[in-house]
Amino acid sequence: MTLQNLSKILDKYESQLGSSSIQQFEQLNGLPFYNWQQHLYNSNTFNHAIGLPQKDGKTYPLFDYEQILFDTLQQHKHVWIKKATGLGVTEFMLRYMAWLCLSTNKVENSQMCIVTGPRLELAITLIDRLKGLFRDLEKISRFNTKETVIELNGVHIEAYPSHHLDSMRGLTNVSFVYLDEADFFPPGQQQDSRHVSERYIAKSSPWIVMVSTPNAPEGLFEKIEREPEGTCLYKRLFLDYAYGLGKIYTEVEIEKAKASPSFEREYNLKYLGKVGNVFHTLDIEAAICTQHEGQEMMNWSTSMMIGRSMGIDVAWGDTSKFAIVITQFRNRKIETFYAESFEKPQMNCIINHIMQLKQKHHITKIYVDGANPEVIRELKARIGEYHDHYGRLTEEQIWGLRTSNSWQIIPVNFQKRHREMLQWTYTLMSKRFVKIHLSLHDLIVSLRTATVSDEWKLDKQQTSHHDTLDSLRLSLCNYELPKYNP
Ligand SMILES: Nc1ncnc2c1ncn2[C@@H]1O[C@H](COP(=O)(O)OP(=O)(O)OP(=O)(O)O)[C@@H](O)[C@H]1O
Ligand SMILES: [Mg+2]
Repeated sequence: MTLQNLSKILDKYESQLGSSSIQQFEQLNGLPFYNWQQHLYNSNTFNHAIGLPQKDGKTYPLFDYEQILFDTLQQHKHVWIKKATGLGVTEFMLRYMAWLCLSTNKVENSQMCIVTGPRLELAITLIDRLKGLFRDLEKISRFNTKETVIELNGVHIEAYPSHHLDSMRGLTNVSFVYLDEADFFPPGQQQDSRHVSERYIAKSSPWIVMVSTPNAPEGLFEKIEREPEGTCLYKRLFLDYAYGLGKIYTEVEIEKAKASPSFEREYNLKYLGKVGNVFHTLDIEAAICTQHEGQEMMNWSTSMMIGRSMGIDVAWGDTSKFAIVITQFRNRKIETFYAESFEKPQMNCIINHIMQLKQKHHITKIYVDGANPEVIRELKARIGEYHDHYGRLTEEQIWGLRTSNSWQIIPVNFQKRHREMLQWTYTLMSKRFVKIHLSLHDLIVSLRTATVSDEWKLDKQQTSHHDTLDSLRLSLCNYELPKYNP
């Protein structure tokens, strides 16, 4: 048989398969999405026709919180959903998109885009799941499109990994954009995917649906959450684990999940970032003081009897913040009672603020990233700390002076010492020398999310509020273990 003949036979086979698929799809035409009131009695719906969702071999109905999703999508075209993990929102969205294609005439001859995280497998998995929705409809389970594409009733649905959005630009008639787990896209790709999606609003007025479990503070999701009601483009839905209790989750499953350090983020909608790999959760918990201890810590924070140290991570630009941390040594513990960061501060204002803090808390040691001689010079000038020999000392000698009382303003070569400082912070944390005031939320999050990529190099993309952690590391340069070892 020639190749030509073979391909003719295959074409004929495909067209037969295609026509039977069309007949099967026709059965779905006009069906309502679901019947929440009487789903057992009235099963003439799209979801019953394609087969209800399954989990661990069991069939489930669609739940009441999915009716909230459905109703919202009927009324709003731009929807933002922050949700607990495993509620079934991805499954719901895939079904909703398929329903629009097969049972309604709202999206004829259009394109739908699914944006996933930056891995091709994620894009393939979602299209696979869409194809799998039709496993119960005979013969339809075969789709002869590429792995990231499915054609449903003339609608072209394609999944794009967030690092390959170029081919998503320039489409002609986009009816639906679904961004799955968007808060986990890398920061640049979060903005990019939002931008590419929203550009279609003027062109073809698509649904734009962003769904995610929360990730880190100050990411895409928190930014949108903070937008004022009047100007936010999106209708915002918050679905925590309580919506799924006794439905998609059992009580036992949730009790088990509560033991995990990531429970508050994964199930309870808190932006805590992914748990890092530097500090142990138990050490962080042990460091956070009680209300009573916090009160004591603050009462002592202005006493002249104890030593204190300030760490300053200087930053003036868009990407980082100017952060200040103050610690004091009391009761054989290093107590952290102040941690604050400032976005693009003015030099004069921030120096004044530092001087006020220095006076109020009688701070005698200030560690500053040495890459900022202008701040060091200014601080030294303000306190009258002049030293001709500064320029003549080697970095090694300056580093050696950090715990001595020679200077109040001490430059630290961050570039060179950052690993040592992180290790040192780790040592003090794991030996439970550090106490942190319970109100210092950003600092606590920075410790929880602190992630190192290679040998003790902090990964700033993964670590939330890394500037605050940098200031803590600087402040901890003041302390030596042998002296204080209990
Ligand atoms: N009523 C339901 N709605 C949606 N999915 C359901 C339902 N009942 C059972 N399931 C099953 O539960 C699983 C839900 O997983 P899915 O990936 O959709 O959840 P998710 O909310 O997107 O979670 P993740 O945080 O992991 O992305 C699927 O296997 C689905 O078939
Ligand atoms: Mg999902």
